[in-house]
Amino acid sequence: MGTARTQPIWSPVDGATRDWFLEGPVSEIQDVVVIGAGVAGLSTALCLCREGRRVLVIDRAGIGAGETLRTTAHLASALDDRYYRLARQHGDDGARLAAASHSAAIDWIEELALTADPPCGFRRVPGYLFSHDGDLDNLRREASAAQAAGLSAGFLAEGVETPDVLGPVVRFDQQARVDMGLYLLALAKAVRDAGGGFLRAEATAVEGGVQPLVRLRGDEVRAAVVVVASNVPFHETGATYMKQAPYRTYAVAGEVPADALPDALYWDDGDPYHYVRLHVPGDVSESVQVIVGGEDHKTGQDDDPTAYARLQEWSQARFPQITRFTHAWSGQILEPADGLAFIGPDPDNDNVYLVTGDSGNGITHGTLAGLLLADLIQRRDNPWAALYDPSRKPVRGGGEWLRENANTALQYRDWLRRGEVADADEIARGTGAVLRRGLHRVAAYRSGDGRLHTFNARCPHLGCVVRWSSEEKSWDCPCHGSRFDAASGAILNGPTSEPLSDFPWDEAS
Ligand code: FES
Repeated sequence: MGTARTQPIWSPVDGATRDWFLEGPVSEIQDVVVIGAGVAGLSTALCLCREGRRVLVIDRAGIGAGETLRTTAHLASALDDRYYRLARQHGDDGARLAAASHSAAIDWIEELALTADPPCGFRRVPGYLFSHDGDLDNLRREASAAQAAGLSAGFLAEGVETPDVLGPVVRFDQQARVDMGLYLLALAKAVRDAGGGFLRAEATAVEGGVQPLVRLRGDEVRAAVVVVASNVPFHETGATYMKQAPYRTYAVAGEVPADALPDALYWDDGDPYHYVRLHVPGDVSESVQVIVGGEDHKTGQDDDPTAYARLQEWSQARFPQITRFTHAWSGQILEPADGLAFIGPDPDNDNVYLVTGDSGNGITHGTLAGLLLADLIQRRDNPWAALYDPSRKPVRGGGEWLRENANTALQYRDWLRRGEVADADEIARGTGAVLRRGLHRVAAYRSGDGRLHTFNARCPHLGCVVRWSSEEKSWDCPCHGSRFDAASGAILNGPTSEPLSDFPWDEAS
């Protein structure tokens, strides 16, 4: 099961890799178990396999069924949290290390992509940051902060390399794009060829120790080291979920003539910001597509069914050459309080390591996680370790941390509210609503065949009331971003490790 109803532009990987997965019990103790077969888990697995470690990758739904294929695959060292902020939050050295680590991740992806068969559509391109409101001070500040962090970046006047409509830009050299479906397939093949194994199973808990234990639904497996690479940790750890806020982000793709705009990555500096790139399937210039993303909102809050329409409108105002839109999809991202996501030892579980998703830089973050975790697990020093350590306290990102946690606390007000509808017969086919039944809240979804699917609306993670997402037709928790399938209550996104529980409902009564 994927994490959303909409289909991204990338080809799915699961069909080509389904046979690689074991289904049965695994009795041998593994060197390393990696939970999560997305870019972070597979990059980690490949780095460790190449060092001769016996690695087992576990995923409940196959390769790329999580958030990795919901990316737009901007391979950028031009980080979306802006270098002038990163320097404030992590110091000048921290900003330099962040730039170096994401640059190293692009290099690593390039090396794998350029030897892959079939090719992965990897291409080095420039990146351009433009202003959403004409205020150029932000751009100038970012240009000099990026240079100070060691990147090749500079300010360009309107129209020098980019369409006039974007205005002046900051140009970043040595960014890249890739076809994420083909790249993930190449990465998974490399893991398999290097001796890595795959197990299809749902991990429900991880217990640290000399030999950590991974509890699976109906089974368990032990390893010397466990890596939780499931976007957001689902097991008992206080390391990260209070320090990252979950957001939904949206993307659309449309066809454009080959010369519509230079092959590059583009971002504006709005909040939320827009992000743009070209996709050239098979490097055939007759079939160029432009991918545009943005319209982020907190998961479970501000449900907005017009997000795609607004993205299309924004795109056409700037790129009128778009002939027709072909795709629309959404994904889940995590915004860290201090601008950098987490990679490193789980402070609450011995011999367990974590890597979380990152906001708009998830593919390079997941890749550099592989390089960093391989060093940590092999007991080597790595200069990036402290920067990404899950135990770090946000020193200067504290205001954002407090704001996000105050917002989370407010969501518990839902327990005081009336139900969204008084009765189930007010719920139309294909929609859902929260009902009140005594002290309980009931998440009720009516499927296309008229059947009512009812669940206890209490999120199993920490007890917020889930809300209906009209966009993805799912139950989304407004507190920490857990998401659940509308018809089955199954988990779509953590941090929950349990599905919604059934709530018996007799429509006739
Ligand atoms: Fe934490 Fe729902 S995700 S309470």
